[in-house]
Amino acid sequence: MKNDMTFLCIASYEKGRDFMRKAKELGNNVLLLTSKKLAGSPWPRESIDEIYYIPNEKSWEIPNLINAVSYLARSVKIDRIIALDDFDVEKAASLREHLRIPGMGETTARYFRDKLAMRIRAKEIGLNIPDFVRVLNYDEINEFFGRTEPPYILKPRMQAGAIGITKIESKEQFWKRIEELGDKQSYYLLEQFVAGKIHHVDTILFDREVKYSVAGEYGLPPFEVAHQGRVFTSRLMEYGSKEAEELRLLNEKALKGLGLVKGVSHTEFIRSEKDGKLYFLETSARVGGANLSEMIKAGTGVNLWEEWAKLETLEDGDKYELPEIEKNYSAIITSLAKQKGPDLSIFSEPEVVWKLKKDYHAGLILSSPKYERVSELLDKHTKLFYDNFFTSQPMKEKAAD
Ligand SMILES: Nc1ncnc2c1ncn2[C@@H]1O[C@H](COP(=O)(O)OP(=O)(O)O)[C@@H](O)[C@H]1O
Ligand SMILES: [Mg+2]
Repeated sequence: MKNDMTFLCIASYEKGRDFMRKAKELGNNVLLLTSKKLAGSPWPRESIDEIYYIPNEKSWEIPNLINAVSYLARSVKIDRIIALDDFDVEKAASLREHLRIPGMGETTARYFRDKLAMRIRAKEIGLNIPDFVRVLNYDEINEFFGRTEPPYILKPRMQAGAIGITKIESKEQFWKRIEELGDKQSYYLLEQFVAGKIHHVDTILFDREVKYSVAGEYGLPPFEVAHQGRVFTSRLMEYGSKEAEELRLLNEKALKGLGLVKGVSHTEFIRSEKDGKLYFLETSARVGGANLSEMIKAGTGVNLWEEWAKLETLEDGDKYELPEIEKNYSAIITSLAKQKGPDLSIFSEPEVVWKLKKDYHAGLILSSPKYERVSELLDKHTKLFYDNFFTSQPMKEKAAD
């Protein structure tokens, strides 16, 4: 283990506080590259040696970013480039390629960011996936319609958080939407809508081996939560259950096949209502969003951000040691709130271990050694969220800039 490396962390959103704290604690030099407009965010300044601000959207474009970071590299020797948010994965990969810094390069990053590349590779490695077609060749698209039944999902290849995704009920609706998209259409992917429960598996991977993974289950599909406006929930699944083990196994096959060497991943699957089978939905090379890392920490004691910082501090040939794992259960409930400061004091059970502090939001995390207890409280409190705080807003079309 080398403890005096220089980490350049890239965060186009406010993410990764625990990563930076841990990286610093391990003796590394921590640099942060973020947006000027995030200057007021609660960055862990005591753990950051220098913050560099990107002034505007144009400067985030890869050729401009390459110039800026190459300029910085004249005086600073950078050892690691870390993408703290999903949108930073491709930027970090391009920078690594240009500066010849170890870590995930552009080819692999593409499999973890581009939903079309991900689908094609998943098919090659024999994962069960929803039937899909690239939005490119119209004969190919017509063939796809010929062999499938509605509904469909039309999604941007490089977004996150269900942004820009549309459920398509007919061929006609698809062609209308495609016309609206114009030249942007080839940046989309069309696939079969598979109704069912959405699962996530969160992983720590080192030396191409899955060192740790834990399976979770969203209450309602994230698409419904984001586009129809619902309370968001998720919980850890029962350890050792047939369902959880099947997910973990499939997750391992996906990550190995897609070529993740080291790091963390949040990967999603759909359990089809129709045939009971698991379908690979998507993967990523980052810690899951929506405070899922807090939920995982509450159940297992594992802080994925910190473990990731530990992994990055290791060198080839080093051994990664997992922290002690607790086998408790946890669940999360979050929602937009009608109130600026919703009164969460109604949730007073000892199992309530975390509360979200954010204006016009309500959120909590439950934890207990018993799966049944977490499930019971999850149902009860989700209902209270709808009754007391819940409100919804129209979904934005594009990530906030
Ligand atoms: N093929 C599909 N069938 C059913 N639901 C889907 C499908 N693709 C996406 N969704 C819904 O949209 C959500 C977001 O899609 P996903 O591919 O995970 O992209 P994102 O990066 O935005 O999370 C999913 O969680 C799910 O609810
Ligand atoms: Mg998703």
